[in-house]
Amino acid sequence: MTLLWNRADLLAATSGRFASTSHDDIAGTGVSIDTRTLRPGDVFIALQGENSNGHAHVAAALDAGAAAVVAHEPCGIDDPRILMVRDTLAAMRDMAHFARARFTGRMVAVTGSVGKTSVKDMLRHALAACGPTHYAVASYNNHWGVPLTLARLPADAAYCVCEIGMNHPGEIQPLAVMVRPDVAVVTTVASSHLGLMGSLEAIAREKAEILLALPRGGGTGIVPAGVTGVEYFRRNAESMEAALWWAGHTPDCAAYETNVRTDAQGSGFDLSLPGWQGHARVNAPGRHMADNAMLALAAAHAAGADMGHAVAGLATFRPGAGRGAMAKVMHDKVTLLDESYNASPASVRAALDLLGLVATGRRVAILGDMLELGAFARHEHTSLLPAVRANADIVFCCGPNMKTLFDTLPSSLQGGWMPDSRMLAPLVRAALRAGDTVMVKGSLGSRMRHVVTAMQADDARVGPA
Ligand SMILES: Nc1ncnc2c1ncn2[C@@H]1O[C@H](COP(=O)(O)OP(=O)(O)O)[C@@H](O)[C@H]1O
Ligand SMILES: [Mg+2]
Repeated sequence: MTLLWNRADLLAATSGRFASTSHDDIAGTGVSIDTRTLRPGDVFIALQGENSNGHAHVAAALDAGAAAVVAHEPCGIDDPRILMVRDTLAAMRDMAHFARARFTGRMVAVTGSVGKTSVKDMLRHALAACGPTHYAVASYNNHWGVPLTLARLPADAAYCVCEIGMNHPGEIQPLAVMVRPDVAVVTTVASSHLGLMGSLEAIAREKAEILLALPRGGGTGIVPAGVTGVEYFRRNAESMEAALWWAGHTPDCAAYETNVRTDAQGSGFDLSLPGWQGHARVNAPGRHMADNAMLALAAAHAAGADMGHAVAGLATFRPGAGRGAMAKVMHDKVTLLDESYNASPASVRAALDLLGLVATGRRVAILGDMLELGAFARHEHTSLLPAVRANADIVFCCGPNMKTLFDTLPSSLQGGWMPDSRMLAPLVRAALRAGDTVMVKGSLGSRMRHVVTAMQADDARVGPA
């Protein structure tokens, strides 16, 4: 197990102070912010959350074998492993900066409106085949997820892949500066979080900030060709003297894929990158996943990876639960395309295309509200109509926003509408027939998992198809 944090490094990183100086050295082999998942040897950081306070769990962390506890509130426990700091979140950021500074491998950051986690996971599969690779867990992409990922970074890993998210203006820059990527990937510029961001232009300007965190003269930015706000990306890449690779489908792009062959299992494609050409395959269906795979391989190449290994590593990627994973449910009679994890206009369109692509029988779309669209909500929901008409035979909706879409559907497509997903689930179950392919999608807050769980209820063994 890699040693991440000893006493001297913890002190140097945080400028905190231990209750006792006479204790043996510390051997922190991990970093935890949650005692429920803490492993012996982890450094536990007692964060003050909105609904919980880590300081209430210091004793549990020590009992569970924490190598050290970082705290800012007195917790009435006398233990030489407790490191007192001024503010624990700031201390975690300090640890992130420290760990980033000593890291000698190549750093890749992934941001974008949709597809971040998919690209991040494709990339970590590709890079792990080339050398020791550290990466963000799940979607650890915000003010605590990014520093936590970096605080866990082994100094001698060959690669690190971070995810950087954004749902309000000004969020990307401080995280990008913490990550200091050698390679920065922007997956998409689309209308997720439009409510808080105001316009696609504003979203593009924000995403382009990531390029300003590249090392001057030595970095690479990878951005889909034809995105909104091309000039922001160009300007920022120029100001950092960074290489800017547009990624697309024609030879005028630095990175481009051709001969994309997509079926229900995934896509094969020919890829051309500066200084490398070859064939690759991604085992996740949908054009958007082929595009994500191109970005991941381009990033691997820009990070100096061996492309033979990277292509082989990518082939081991599978879409995650809620992100396009497919399974047979209801006694193998129905195919479930589980897209329930989250939704934005771009990802709902991609998921509807996917339904059209993979369905063999009746195409059933189950749609919950897309959130965080503010004043744009009505327009963004009703504008899904053409994609729905092209890819679904029957549609079930829940939530007040999806009601606006549901009401515009021809009656032949209207399966049913309910105020929320719990009420919709039994309606959907009752309507399904053998041979149906069902795609479930909605924002996290729309809790579309209820529909997925209801469909899985009869199946003892739940797993990928
Ligand atoms: N390039 C893309 N274009 C449109 N939708 C996408 C794309 N990549 C992934 N998606 C879909 O968007 C949703 C979120 O994907 P994910 O990779 O978790 O993105 P993020 O981390 O940005 O939230 C999933 O349903 C996924 O299938
Ligand atoms: Mg994510």
